[in-house]
Amino acid sequence: MKSVELVNVSFTYPNGFKAVENVSMVINKGENVAIIGQNGAGKTTTVKMMNGLLRPTEGAIFINEENTKSFTTAQISKKVGYVFQNPGDQLFNKTVYDEIAFALRANKVGEKEIEKRVTEAAELCHVREFLDHNPYDLPFSLRKFVTIAIVVANNCDILVLDEPTAGQDLLEKNGWRKLLKNLIQMVKLLLP
Ligand SMILES: Nc1ncnc2c1ncn2[C@@H]1O[C@H](COP(=O)(O)OP(=O)(O)O)[C@@H](O)[C@H]1O
Ligand SMILES: [Mg+2]
Repeated sequence: MKSVELVNVSFTYPNGFKAVENVSMVINKGENVAIIGQNGAGKTTTVKMMNGLLRPTEGAIFINEENTKSFTTAQISKKVGYVFQNPGDQLFNKTVYDEIAFALRANKVGEKEIEKRVTEAAELCHVREFLDHNPYDLPFSLRKFVTIAIVVANNCDILVLDEPTAGQDLLEKNGWRKLLKNLIQMVKLLLP
């Protein structure tokens, strides 16, 4: 099954700058794909279109073989979890727990289920011991792990990480490798 499909996708910003031109790609269920390109190549613009934060100005994007045109950004983001390059762009709650629980509460998930999902996601992403901390008291790398725990807790089918290793030193990169390996393992377990 195709998870993500871009068909002749282009994106032009309101100022007229065409950041993405005629991109087509297919990512199948269970595949792990890295998009590599120099600064300004259009990677962020492309992945933001995958979860509906931006909409293609030309072409079409299919998630789980459904055209995203027919769905709201809120609906798409339940399927496609997007982790921003800079955690500061998405963290705003007073504790790590509330941060991970936020979307679950918004989606009216019961508190008991929320506690289970938050704890499991925090464990997987190495932030369980910081659940009662303010995310801004944590170092950059852990703040980034919190943003990953958010999408893990939301059980998204598709996980998009924007520049996951930017700003991490070598030691932290090893932590990253472990986390990514766990994430990939987890996704494999979820596959039918
Ligand atoms: N809001 C915007 N308005 C106009 N141009 C933008 C905007 N955001 C990004 N761009 C331009 O679009 C191009 C692609 O940016 P981006 O997708 O962020 O690339 P990457 O993630 O590969 O570094 C760059 O030239 C960037 O300057
Ligand atoms: Mg980028």
